[in-house]
Amino acid sequence: MGELEGRVAIVTGAGRGIGAAVAEGLAAEGAGVLVNDLGAAVDGSGADASPARQVVERIVEAGGTALPDATDVTDFGACEALIRSAVEEFGRLDVLVNVAGILRDRMIFKMSEEEWDAVVDVHLKGTFNTTRHAAAYWRENRGGQYRLINFTSGSGLWGAPGQPNYAASKLGIVGLTLSCANALRPYGVTSNCISPVASTRMTATVRRPEAKGTYTPENRRMAPENVVPAVLYLASERSDWLNRRVVGAGNGRISLHTDYAVEREIVSSTGLWGDTSEVFAEIENSFKGALEHPNPFDRPRG
Ligand SMILES: NC(=O)c1ccc[n+]([C@@H]2O[C@H](COP(=O)([O-])OP(=O)(O)OC[C@H]3O[C@@H](n4cnc5c(N)ncnc54)[C@H](O)[C@@H]3O)[C@@H](O)[C@H]2O)c1
Repeated sequence: MGELEGRVAIVTGAGRGIGAAVAEGLAAEGAGVLVNDLGAAVDGSGADASPARQVVERIVEAGGTALPDATDVTDFGACEALIRSAVEEFGRLDVLVNVAGILRDRMIFKMSEEEWDAVVDVHLKGTFNTTRHAAAYWRENRGGQYRLINFTSGSGLWGAPGQPNYAASKLGIVGLTLSCANALRPYGVTSNCISPVASTRMTATVRRPEAKGTYTPENRRMAPENVVPAVLYLASERSDWLNRRVVGAGNGRISLHTDYAVEREIVSSTGLWGDTSEVFAEIENSFKGALEHPNPFDRPRG
């Protein structure tokens, strides 16, 4: 018996990369999987139904249960049909994993409106589109052990300088997930984010000199399969205690990120602030000693 026997999952963006590994991992543990992928290029252009079909073929050959789907996650109405078809085909929906993503990297001072909109559309709106309809289904069908698993990124958590559209979308996904975590808990849903690292066609575009040798297909620690165990845990019934968090996965690590919390604070006893220069000094005295969290983008750049 697999850890996910009898459960039903949708994985978006599951035709390639991390999504494909997640879909295959879920199926290997006994879940029925709806394998969604538009089959777009890294920049979001084009469409091709064959990547999702090929993943389904591999799952079925390995003895698992899966169906392909080519829905574009930017289409709100089509995402309603996607949720409905999982329920019609498999009889239920327990797990939604939002992986679909694209890149249109550009520095903020050069970014076009179109580059901004395209990335926000796939990541943030796409995650909303599927989540919205799955949440309505879960609310109507209480009593399950439901799981929402959204994909964020270190790009958003730490602020990749060349990816303002992507960073904003990925941190927006965290906000959406935290809201869902609080809103959907009464209906048996946990909502968490995965912050992955893996060598895929998406990271083949990474040009940071310090990342040289890391994002290569030869580096087995960076295989998309290494992201999968953390996702499987979140998808399982055992993770019922874990809600509203970001979990890092990949490169041989699974990490629990800190919750958003106040780290330092100065307090005015009257609720009002007096002399500006005194407030400046108090801010510096208190905040400057705060813990420095490691930031992979905080390096001299050439
Ligand atoms: N690879 C990493 O190190 C890394 C790091 C941080 C975050 N991520 C995130 O992980 C997820 C997977 O990334 P990956 O590296 O496997 O990328 P990938 O390019 O290999 O896979 C992304 C998949 O999403 C699909 N897709 C794109 N637009 C779509 C749409 N509108 N509807 C449906 N499917 C669509 C693509 O066809 C593709 O198969 C993404 O959300 C990405 O932002 C990846």
